[in-house]
Amino acid sequence: MSPRHFLTLKDLSPSELKQLISRASELKAMHRAGTDYQPLKNKVLAMIFEKSSTRTRVSFEAGMAQFGGHALFLSPRDTQLGRGEPVEDSARVISSMVDAVMIRTFGHDIVETFAANSRVPVINALTDDYHPCQLLADMQTYQEHRGSIEGKKVVWVGDGNNMCHSYMNAASMLNFQLVAACPKGYEPNPAIVAENQANVTVLHSAQEAVVGADLVVTDVFASMGQEEEQQQRLRDFSGFQVNKALMDLANKDALFMHCLPAHRGEEVTAEVIDHPDSVVWDEAENRLHAQKALLEFLICN
Ligand code: CP
Ligand code: NVA
Repeated sequence: MSPRHFLTLKDLSPSELKQLISRASELKAMHRAGTDYQPLKNKVLAMIFEKSSTRTRVSFEAGMAQFGGHALFLSPRDTQLGRGEPVEDSARVISSMVDAVMIRTFGHDIVETFAANSRVPVINALTDDYHPCQLLADMQTYQEHRGSIEGKKVVWVGDGNNMCHSYMNAASMLNFQLVAACPKGYEPNPAIVAENQANVTVLHSAQEAVVGADLVVTDVFASMGQEEEQQQRLRDFSGFQVNKALMDLANKDALFMHCLPAHRGEEVTAEVIDHPDSVVWDEAENRLHAQKALLEFLICN
């Protein structure tokens, strides 16, 4: 039987996604209570990072250790993948020795090719197109602060790339409305918009989008791999900063999220990210609990 993978949120059914989010909160409570729970004893997660990471690496590595297993950090600098060994061959070899593989890379086709040749579950830990692990944590965080997200209005402000695409998938799976406010030329992939069209609207004005928002989310202007575009993007994204004037247009109890790392003074002001309505630290911590729920689901089932 071929293994379950997690390359986008849609590799889960909506009910599996909801169960996983609730399980993440349960695992968080167990962790805080000091409960000894080691369902992944002697299990190994290989972690392939072709881009930098703080949260993703620490959360997967700590999560595996807390579950009694082990995580293996593989950088392209030190593996044959970085010297051109085919993804297909690497997938066959690595997946013959471990229980799951996590990959952070550039093209989404790389995780798809890896998964097609893997005998164990493959987890997408960010590609240029999607960041589904972050959405598990974001949805858990919303639920813990405000209850069900169903029927709520979520506004994405900024680049229509990986995080925005995963928010669009979440919108149709959990049935909330997502309004993406993106500068011209930085809109989300039209095919992913079309897939989620009943729950997604794309606008070019952050001010128009944010009226009545229950949750406002943003991300860096230049993602990993786009460092050379930073100056151009600073110009193109003017008017797309999340600041107090923008948050004042949202609902009174609107939350603010950012997957981090953040650049205060660019996509968000310090006043917004450091305000009590900002839940970015819970969001970051929940990467640990949400991914433990994901590892348990993929490896133990
Ligand atoms: N949000 C997130 O994925 O952070 P890292 O790049 O630090 O892993
Ligand atoms: N959009 C950002 C997210 C980082 C977690 C990037 O791809 O760099």
